[in-house]
Formats: sequence, C-alpha cells, structure tokens
Amino acid sequence: MPPRRVSRPRRYLVCEPRYYDVQYAINPWMREDGEVDHDLARAQWKTLVSTYLDLGHTVEQVQPEPGLVDMVFAANSALVLGGRVLGSRFHAPQRRPEEAAYETWFKGAGFEVYRPESVCEGEGDLVPAGGFVLAGTGFRTTPTAHREVQEFFGVPVVGLQLVDPYFYHLDTALFVLDDGGADRPAHIAYHPEAFSPGSREVLARMFPDALIATREDAMAFGLNSVSDGRNVLVAPQAEGLIGRLEAHGYVPVPVDLSEFHKSGGGIKCCTQEIRA
Ligand code: ARG
Repeated sequence: MPPRRVSRPRRYLVCEPRYYDVQYAINPWMREDGEVDHDLARAQWKTLVSTYLDLGHTVEQVQPEPGLVDMVFAANSALVLGGRVLGSRFHAPQRRPEEAAYETWFKGAGFEVYRPESVCEGEGDLVPAGGFVLAGTGFRTTPTAHREVQEFFGVPVVGLQLVDPYFYHLDTALFVLDDGGADRPAHIAYHPEAFSPGSREVLARMFPDALIATREDAMAFGLNSVSDGRNVLVAPQAEGLIGRLEAHGYVPVPVDLSEFHKSGGGIKCCTQEIRA
C-alpha cells in the first residue's frame, strides 16, 4: 500500500497569456512563426488557474506586458525560498525585459529581489527538494549562477548536467512530488536520460525511491508537473506517468496545456511557487 499523500496549500504566481506567442526559436520545441491558437491557449491557461483555486491554493497574477511573448512562463522569473527572492537573468535577449517586469511585481508584494550576475532562469533550472536546491545547467543556467544561488540562500546546491536539448530546463526533466519533512524523505520523479551519467548517479544516490519516467512521458511534458504533495497537475498526454502516480498514492489531475508545448513550456513553466 502506498503511503497516504497529504496536500499542503501553496501560493502561486502566474501571468495571463495575453501576449503569448511563438515568434523566435530558443529551444527545439519552438518554430519561428509557430502557429498558436490564441483562444485555446487562453482557455487552457484559465483551466490551470481554476484548478489551483479549486484545490484550495492561492493564485496571484503579474500583469503581462506587450511584446513579452514568453512572460506567461512565470517559473523562469525567480526562485523564492524562505521569503527570499532570487530574480533571473535570461539567456535569450528576447526574454531579458521580463526580469524587470517580475522584479517590479515582487517589490510591490513586499519582497526584496537579488538579481544574479550569471545566466539564471529561476525555477526553470532551480528546484528545491529535501533541504537542497537541485540546479540544472547545460543549456541555460550556468554553474557560476549555481554558486550565487548557494551563497544567496545558504542552502546546499546540487548541480545537475542536462544533456538533451529537448529537456533544456531542469523542470522539463524532473519535478518534486513531495518535498519531504521530519518523518519522510523528499520524493521526486525524473527522466534519467536527460542527465549526464554522473548526474544520473547523483540522483540515484539522493533519491533511491524516485519515480522514473520514460522519454515518452518526458516528451509529453509529464515532468513539467506541479504537485501539492497529493494532487499532481500533469499533462494528460503523459499516460504512463499518470498510471505510476496513481500506483504511488498520488491523485493525478490532468490539465492540458498543449498550446504552450509549442513554446517548450507546460504546467510548471506557467507556475511560480512563492515559498514563505
Ligand atoms: N519559450 C520559453 C523558453 O524557451 C519556454 C520556457 C519554459 N519554461 C520552463 N520553466 N521550462 O525560454
């Protein structure tokens, strides 16, 4: 029998996809002049927000800005841990104006914001798990930024090398199911082949009970999921993973963000968690 999973209420920050589009290609999912069904994108995003609200979570919104077509991907704009905000420094020049837009929101909400000097894409590559920050590198966030993250939060950072361009952000290859606590270790899901051999070994050592996802699950954005400890918002296309989540006592909540997959994003990319 899997353990009884318990949800914890969360505070999320999102950005309405008013100006969302695919106009440039900075990852293998994107096509220059990619066709987006804007009405469908808006409807899918609204379902995401109402799902969070129905589950009892708090959702806050940052105002979208014209021209910032990727601003909907709130996860990339910061990592918030213990009420401290580490802002972002984007790799792509097209996304750099998002830095100030989010910084303004955080300041208005009463937070101080530290801006990293090196390329650092927030929760896209930085995933808090069990008292560590797992930190991806290889495509966006740099190892130098990992050092800044450790210095800023005073939390040990574990660097992980990403090797597959389809999984260019850590949050496309790994997510936290249960952050753990005094009585239990953190529980994560990941796709091993997205990582270098050494990083795979690190993950196996740290998380021997992890849920292992196939390439099909990962290509369906199954690992770009958001868990509250019990309910897991997951792409309905990740059928294999959904079965395994159920077997492990979680409640899969399918939310289809297919219009955002065209930009290389999914559920987690659209969601920034504000951790008090
Ligand atoms: N088009 C965006 C980019 O390539 C997608 C970002 C997806 N976000 C994420 N957390 N993986 O930057």
